[in-house]
Amino acid sequence: MGTLLSSKSIDRIMKFLAQSATLLTAAFFISACSSDPATPTVVAPVQSAQTSTPAPGQPKEVKNSAPAPALTETQRATALWKKIQGFKTWNSPPGFPGLVESDSVHGDFVRFYANGTALADMKKLPNGSIIVKEGFEDDQGDLNAITVMEKIEGFSQDSGDWLFTRFDVEGKASKINSSSCIRCHQKADGGDFSFAND
Ligand code: HEC
Repeated sequence: MGTLLSSKSIDRIMKFLAQSATLLTAAFFISACSSDPATPTVVAPVQSAQTSTPAPGQPKEVKNSAPAPALTETQRATALWKKIQGFKTWNSPPGFPGLVESDSVHGDFVRFYANGTALADMKKLPNGSIIVKEGFEDDQGDLNAITVMEKIEGFSQDSGDWLFTRFDVEGKASKINSSSCIRCHQKADGGDFSFAND
């Protein structure tokens, strides 16, 4: 009996051991598998360190591209309005003395003013040139608008680096860098977007 029992119990033990072996193997695999994700988690900081390497590059890119959008068009227009304060004391470009009749969109009569940078070289119109034009309903009439163009180095190829802005008498800007201004001024002789030297 004892032998039978013991042989049965050996069987059981063997089965138990076999099951245990399976369990152990399974446990081993589970632990092996669970240690697998552990390896990437060790790698993960390296990866995140790698992604954090381009990350400082991103602010750099922002910094690099910062000079271009540093000023919004509205900010540029506000700055331009300040720059043209006192423009009525500026001289007119040669060929446009005082109030002159106009058949342009700017009014029936217009008056041109240019800053020193522009007047110094009306053919070249260097960066920093500002040309102001008052447009009037008629020779006595109300001021329609003050249209201004300012040449800013590297501002925009599309407009020959000119910032076009229309101000009302109060200095409220509209049509900042408007394509309608640019498209028409593209027709100016010399391809410099300015009619003041044609
Ligand atoms: C449909 C054509 C047309 C459009 C649109 C136009 N302009 Fe003009 N602009 C002219 C012409 C033509 C002149 C030349 C003077 C004149 O006859 O009034 C001129 C002259 C000027 C001048 C005088 C200096 C120069 O060199 O030409 C300024 C400044 C100006 N325009 C600004 C503007 C702004 C800003 C806009 C948009 C809000 C604008 N213009 C839209 C046709 C146009």
